Amino acid sequence: MLHGVIERILDAQTVWADPLGKLFVAIFAALYKPVPAIKDLLHGVWLGHPLHPAITDVPIGAYVVALVLDLSGQRAAATAAIGVGIVFMLLAALAGYADYIDLEDKTRRFGTVHSSLMLVALVLYLVSFLMRLGAVPSPAEVWLSVIGFLIVISSAYIGGELVYNLGTQVDRHAWRGGGTKWAALDVTEIPADKPVKAKAGAQTLVVVRRGSALEALHDVCAHQGCSLSEGKLVDGTIECGCHGSRYRLRDGLVVRGPAVFDQPHYEVREAEGKFEVRRTDTR
Ligand code: FES
Repeated sequence: MLHGVIERILDAQTVWADPLGKLFVAIFAALYKPVPAIKDLLHGVWLGHPLHPAITDVPIGAYVVALVLDLSGQRAAATAAIGVGIVFMLLAALAGYADYIDLEDKTRRFGTVHSSLMLVALVLYLVSFLMRLGAVPSPAEVWLSVIGFLIVISSAYIGGELVYNLGTQVDRHAWRGGGTKWAALDVTEIPADKPVKAKAGAQTLVVVRRGSALEALHDVCAHQGCSLSEGKLVDGTIECGCHGSRYRLRDGLVVRGPAVFDQPHYEVREAEGKFEVRRTDTR
């Protein structure tokens, strides 16, 4: 019930969140896209997992510690905890905006509300931190951090909505089990160096002939589900036409984000003009 109310509130934020989202995307795309290595680092391609949620636990934990220290009258230690929280909040923001620039429509709107609230909380914590560096304690420095904490928690809820309800940055193949049986492909011809979309039972694959080798990956991009067969071949990889993720054809390894999960890979055999495939990884 609470979830439905919050979802309706968030959905109504088009007036300010959509134009602000466009502005955020323009700014961060201009910053990140010229340097794909930095963008991949921030997505977490090297980690095989989105980097943003791996960082966010640190500031939230630091702010909880600061609250407890404030309640027990340990001002200096609370200030240190808030300092740690601010540093890791900035790192989390850098990683989060790398993922954010590829969001669209509703997910972008939710991402805009989430990041705007976090920015407000960050400012409150910064002001609180600077006040705490002064010699004379003030109740305002504590109240600012308390309000900041409430905003962080509310914003974290929206971040959870983005992932667990709207499926942002989750692996599109999380529930696709492996198999060991060969399955017939519904094509009779696979021309060289051209992605071909083909069905193998219930699965849709993209098949590529490179020299004497035949390679196949699942056609649904692990990032946001676009069809890889509409992408292009680049240096032994297939590049998704939607946001530019690249997967190595020989094993499905993700080599460029925004995807951070590997693509299911299939081996292909050909006999008398018929093609069969079998999943190579059995997770
Ligand atoms: S759907 Fe985003 S890169 Fe493929």
